[in-house]
Amino acid sequence: STEETLILVKPDGVARGLTGEVLRRIEAKGYKIVDLRMVNASRELLEEHYEEHAGKPFFGPLVEFMASGPVVAVRASGNRVIEGFRSLAGATDPTVAAPGTIRGDLGRDWGAAVTQNIVHGSDSTLSAERELALWFA
Ligand code: CMP
Repeated sequence: STEETLILVKPDGVARGLTGEVLRRIEAKGYKIVDLRMVNASRELLEEHYEEHAGKPFFGPLVEFMASGPVVAVRASGNRVIEGFRSLAGATDPTVAAPGTIRGDLGRDWGAAVTQNIVHGSDSTLSAERELALWFA
């Protein structure tokens, strides 16, 4: 069934000039870009966005990284787009993400690779609703 998801091009993706490539892959798959904005996210927004990770060792560095530059937030719709975009993005760690995926094709083997992984996609209908309300308030 048709769903909506939140996709973020993270600061590393924007800085590396990969926004167009990510949008191209979203559209090539047949998903619709319903809304899009460039955001300099506040720490407050990011702490709320990543609330399920609060307390984990990577939480602080993750919020700092996400606040380090502009992010492109995308509202995308399509048949099973939530699961489908996660599949398009590939595994969280770009060093092991499969070729053909955004992270597998474009990810770099940096020290901070698991933080700097180009894109975010909501992982469930519940988080998609919650995250879309945050980024497209
Ligand atoms: P994302 O899909 O945006 O959701 C949580 C993010 O935390 C993840 O992508 C990574 O950018 C980041 N992260 C950093 N370290 C880790 C880790 N060890 N495990 C999972 N996610 C991590």
